Amino acid sequence: MDKTIIITGGAGFIGSHVVRLFATKYPEYRILNLDGLTYAGNLENLKDLEGLPNYTFIKGDIVEEDFINKLFAEQQPDAVIHLAAESHVDRSILDPLSFINTNIIGTVNLLNACRSIWKDNFDGKLFYHISTDEVYGSLGEEGLFVETTAYDPRSPYSASKASSDHLVRAYHHTYKLPVVLTNCSNNYGPNQFPEKLIPLAINNIKKMKAVPIYGKGENVRDWLYVGDHAEAIDRVFHKGSNGETYNIGGNNEWMNIDLIRLMCKFMDEKLDRSPGTSEGLIEFVKDRAGHDLRYAIDAGKIKEDLGWEPTVTFEEGLARTVDWYLSNQEWLENVLSGDYSKYYDQQYKDR
Ligand code: NAD
Ligand code: DAU
Repeated sequence: MDKTIIITGGAGFIGSHVVRLFATKYPEYRILNLDGLTYAGNLENLKDLEGLPNYTFIKGDIVEEDFINKLFAEQQPDAVIHLAAESHVDRSILDPLSFINTNIIGTVNLLNACRSIWKDNFDGKLFYHISTDEVYGSLGEEGLFVETTAYDPRSPYSASKASSDHLVRAYHHTYKLPVVLTNCSNNYGPNQFPEKLIPLAINNIKKMKAVPIYGKGENVRDWLYVGDHAEAIDRVFHKGSNGETYNIGGNNEWMNIDLIRLMCKFMDEKLDRSPGTSEGLIEFVKDRAGHDLRYAIDAGKIKEDLGWEPTVTFEEGLARTVDWYLSNQEWLENVLSGDYSKYYDQQYKDR
């Protein structure tokens, strides 16, 4: 095999798409999927890869320093693509510490392990850190985040991601560790945990349950199909310049309420409901604490330098996503049972 790549968080939403792309497109790479299988990790996401000779799953927690050091010494990875994280803003408001542990301490453990096995010979080595546009804070009605926008994280989640970004850059600057970073906008698509807006809405609309919209639904997000994000990661991994950051986005801004109305219309058609039925499920609830108003990305740098731009239209991406959830009822029911139902009750009961 040409290269050994550890992909962290590969059993999660975006990670599973990245693992599949790399393991199938590059049979010459040995892909090790390192995931602690928290509530968000699900090996069902990668069932189709079982038996692939260049793919191995390793269960482990990136916060456990000794385990990470031992694993890296044994496996001698040439590169790390780091996606493992606590990723849900609402959970970070309920329990910040687990975000600090995984997103900051976990990232430092991986950086240290790379330093320790690569020593100062960085030829062909790379630490690729996957991050979020939320580190830049909140925009008003105008403007776009560029790579040089000052960091201004405002939730425990985004502050923990911002901290990890700074540490990755500090290791590059101080120890010359070869790194690349990307900051992406909101992803959607198959396999996303139904705590996030789009799959939560699909599930609730299907079950004729209330669809909770925080505040007045005026917050704006830029949405990118997960397959496009995986392609961008492939491009940056192979063509990105050492030490650089690239913003990734969908040029696809939606106000939450408009997005949910669109989805309701779409679901009425899919489920043969009379027009307007699903929209009746919309319920405005208490706002998220510290809710960022608007995120929007200028993805000009990755387009100009690396030739990447999104290929899946929102209409096509939403259709694929809704179809996937409607035809993967068992996946959804497995995920919805147990701990998630407790979280849902806690999160939405008094809103
Ligand atoms: P996710 O929550 O679906 O998956 C996270 C994965 O990490 C899970 O498989 C989980 O088991 C694993 N994990 C969590 N803690 C771990 C630990 N301590 N040790 C080992 N594994 C652990 O997340 P996602 O939405 O796929 O996001 C992946 C990455 O992309 C994150 O770093 C996130 O910040 C970033 N990101 C996400 C989005 C988005 O819209 N979802 C957008 C931009 C960036
Ligand atoms: O911008 C990138 C980020 O996008 C990623 O870094 C995060 O990991 C990812 O979770 C996502 O963060 P958001 O907070 O934007 O995503 P979420 O799906 O939770 O919410 C999208 C918008 O919808 C946000 O304005 C809050 C709102 N919302 C969300 C939920 C869950 C509601 O109105 N009601 C809800 O029930």
